[in-house]
Amino acid sequence: MGNLLSTKSGSLTDSRRKFLEKTGASIVLATFGAAFFTSCSSTDDADPTNPNPPGGSSSGITISGNSISINLSIQSALNTSGNWLLIENARTLVANVNGSFVALTSVCTHSGCDRNWTFGNNRFTCTCHGSVFDPRGQVLQGPATAPLTQFGTQVSGTTLVVTR
Ligand code: FES
Repeated sequence: MGNLLSTKSGSLTDSRRKFLEKTGASIVLATFGAAFFTSCSSTDDADPTNPNPPGGSSSGITISGNSISINLSIQSALNTSGNWLLIENARTLVANVNGSFVALTSVCTHSGCDRNWTFGNNRFTCTCHGSVFDPRGQVLQGPATAPLTQFGTQVSGTTLVVTR
């Protein structure tokens, strides 16, 4: 499994943002990769003003109500096992685990960090305080004690639909 790009500079340009506003498209921020990592001290808690870098390409991702549609032709890296997405606006983690898609809330059950995640060896790690979860959201290592909520996934053609 190779590392995918780190898409830390992926904020929307003004023209792109205006286009999306005009078209009414959902604006999502997504981070893609196997090596996204931000450090947190042990005193960090959920902080909505935490200026973590915005995600990368949101192309092909649409949020509508409780549904997230991911065009796998556009977000093609997700077709490879071991790769994953953090869709910040939907607070959702999506990963390809041995060819199957899994989706979990990105809101850590420890103290609510929702965007400081890594994924490797089929484990999600919340880097706020180091909790580790398996692909079904079960706790492998604390301090979290409760599992992450798992969401349904379904592939239809080249579209992955996550139902929250
Ligand atoms: S918020 Fe503390 S480990 Fe995730």
